[in-house]
Amino acid sequence: MTATKGLEGIVATTSSISSIIDGVLTYRGFNIDDLAENATFEEVAYLLWYGKLPNQSELNELLGKLGEYAAIPAGVLDALKLYPKNTNSMAALRTAVSSLALYDEQANDMSHEANITKAIKIQAQIPTLIAAFARLREGKEPVAPKKGVSVAYNFLYMLNGQEPDQVAVKALDQALVLHADHELNASTFAARVTVATLSDIYSGITSAIGALKGPLHGGANEAVMVMLEEIGSIGNVEPYINEKLANKVKIMGFGHRVYKNGDPRAKHLQKMSRELGKMTGNMELYEMSVKIEELVTGQKGLKPNVDFYSASVYTTLGIPRDLFTPIFAISRASGWTAHILEQYENNRLIRPRAEYTGPVDQKVTPISER
Ligand code: ACO
Repeated sequence: MTATKGLEGIVATTSSISSIIDGVLTYRGFNIDDLAENATFEEVAYLLWYGKLPNQSELNELLGKLGEYAAIPAGVLDALKLYPKNTNSMAALRTAVSSLALYDEQANDMSHEANITKAIKIQAQIPTLIAAFARLREGKEPVAPKKGVSVAYNFLYMLNGQEPDQVAVKALDQALVLHADHELNASTFAARVTVATLSDIYSGITSAIGALKGPLHGGANEAVMVMLEEIGSIGNVEPYINEKLANKVKIMGFGHRVYKNGDPRAKHLQKMSRELGKMTGNMELYEMSVKIEELVTGQKGLKPNVDFYSASVYTTLGIPRDLFTPIFAISRASGWTAHILEQYENNRLIRPRAEYTGPVDQKVTPISER
């Protein structure tokens, strides 16, 4: 038995949800470029769950359910108020999502009908949890979700307590489309491993959030912003990046396990970053990002991934840095839940092997002789 480090290149399951073939990303056979330009996040979530794009009445029904389920249980909200103010936002989300199960009578109902309802509930409640957490730590009252509006609209509305700008809603909606699913990424794999034991959907999503938190995965978007802040201005980009590369320090937001010729989602976020910069009259973050890309791609051949330009996009939208990865979770909840449903449909326990590299033939000596 020989291990493959990081399971690189291992095909661990079949799936009909999303594919990456020759660098092209599709959801259910639709190219991500087409979806990013022509579909909303709710349409994409429907596509991931049901395997087809919704017609108008199906979309209206889904929007109705998302609105109906968006309020979080009082017990979960009360507990959020007790979290220490400096709690890591992904740790807060992980804990809060886990606690949603305590208030859902269907939590352990394994029927498909109950699981699809829970998928929509989780999708509806994650934005509410994040916005409530963000306000509570600033001593503000949470804002109740609105009904009949998009996930992007509702999140910005609940976060800021005012009607969001239409440009911001559109930009966030497109970012949500781009992050919704990504084949067998680390967090989706974690979710599938968890539910393949026939554990419940909340356990699967809690595992996924834990996996997304790390900077080699979803946590990279926040780490990109930390880097941009450390660099501070365009004039500092070159010495900063050159020093990091010379010391073999990873530049966050670059590289990918699967894409070696560039992440197809990055160009949409780059365009969004440029347009938002122009609109707000502040191009500095965009220009710094472009300069970083020139240096990293020029010297290492590494291309930006989905996380790189999302940092400047979210900052320009006025979103605090530590909510970037939770926003990724808002979007990926659709993909996670779709994969969980698919896993249940054709389940087999996921239990690989390890290549043993430890000592052999050891004998227990009495404790007094050790
Ligand atoms: N900056 C500098 N060097 C890098 C980077 C980077 N961002 N990424 C990879 N490399 C280098 C490594 O140092 C290594 O060099 P070496 O062979 O000289 O030791 C080589 O490229 C291979 O790197 P691995 O980490 O083994 O490649 P892997 O396929 O495991 O990595 C990963 C993929 C984890 C995404 C990596 O590129 C990385 O750490 N990037 C930065 C973090 C990041 O942006 N993560 C988000 C990914 S997208 C997502 O999850 C949403």
